[in-house]
Amino acid sequence: MRNILITGGTGYIGSHTCLPLLKGGYKLTIIDSNVNSTPTSIERIKKILKNNFSENQISFFKGDIRDKPFLENIFSNAIKENNPVEAVIHFAGLKSVSESIEKPLLYWENNVFGSICLIDIMTKYECRNIVFSSSASIYGNTSFEPILETSEIKPCTPYGYTKVAIENILASIFKSSKNSWRIANLRYFNPIGAHESGFIGENPLDTPNNLFPIICRVANGKMNELQIFGKDWPTIDGTGIRDYIHIMDLADAHYAALEFLFRNKPQILNLNVGTGNGTSVLELVNKFMKVNKCNVPYRFTEKRLGDLPFIVANNTQVTSILKWKPKRNIEQMCIDGWKWQQKNSNGY
Ligand code: NAD
Ligand code: UD1
Repeated sequence: MRNILITGGTGYIGSHTCLPLLKGGYKLTIIDSNVNSTPTSIERIKKILKNNFSENQISFFKGDIRDKPFLENIFSNAIKENNPVEAVIHFAGLKSVSESIEKPLLYWENNVFGSICLIDIMTKYECRNIVFSSSASIYGNTSFEPILETSEIKPCTPYGYTKVAIENILASIFKSSKNSWRIANLRYFNPIGAHESGFIGENPLDTPNNLFPIICRVANGKMNELQIFGKDWPTIDGTGIRDYIHIMDLADAHYAALEFLFRNKPQILNLNVGTGNGTSVLELVNKFMKVNKCNVPYRFTEKRLGDLPFIVANNTQVTSILKWKPKRNIEQMCIDGWKWQQKNSNGY
């Protein structure tokens, strides 16, 4: 069984990605500081898989990627056990845009310095395969065209800058190692929803800022109303348009990226991972209420600082290179996300 290190693997995207990887027969070494998650997600993954995996396929170690001795132990123990880490899927990072504006140093320290520690130890142990969690927030899109990978890189928040910095570090490592690394920077658009079982899902430990978890909380009465930021954007109904992608489709994209890297020569891939379809805030709220037969009271308020009207992926690259396609529609995202919320109204 090929051993894959999953940093940040108990978090939202990491936990969902474990499922296709375990089904695909990989051994997973999961590390997480649990600054924004809990290891309970791993117990839930096991519950979903029932008997269709072996216990020695998953190990979890609580620790921080900035702690190099901790990382060294992971890599050296894997060698001692004759199962060296062959690739890393690097999710670990802080992701709140507003917090990154308030505490930029924390973001540079955690995300960028943390990634440097990880890449350093990977280099030392000759592990040169990595799938990295990048973000659509690196683009400075002001047009109404779907975004290409070659679009201008112009983040507008410290969070976005940390993602650009990590991509740049990976590019320079690639060059300095005479192109011996295999790197996939997956630039996610807006992942929402949950695994169809409702056993795992998004579990923000603080008050959520993103639209979908707020809709879920308003629907189950944990929050009074949704504030819709702006009603006069130049869009079909005046509200902001985003490219929402089902979390399990995003999970499958990681599986496809990893397999692609293993099958192919060393290279760097930059891939937009989205559906290519735009949905407005009002469309999402109305669909959520309709398919889940529930009420989401909302009120229009001022525009949020830094928001853009239209952020949608051109996903031609990812679909043609990885032979991956998103399969689940907005209705499915709303149904699965609501199921998770109802089953776990207080999180894990
Ligand atoms: P998450 O917070 O649920 O998961 C991130 C995990 O990393 C958490 O479990 C957290 O405890 C862990 N972590 C943070 N800093 C760490 C450190 N120094 N050492 C070890 N563990 C650490 O977030 P997510 O939504 O699953 O996001 C995963 C990755 O994808 C992040 O890097 C995020 O920036 C990126 N991303 C997320 C989105 C999104 O909309 N969710 C969009 C684009 C990119
Ligand atoms: C936000 C971040 C982005 C990050 C992404 C995923 C900002 C400006 N952008 O993107 O950098 O990559 O999250 O973590 O914070 N909305 C409301 N009311 C709300 C919340 C959101 O109307 O209470 C609207 C927004 O204006 C937007 C849409 O819903 O039009 C989606 O917002 P959100 O879920 O926060 O995602 P992004 O803005 O795409």
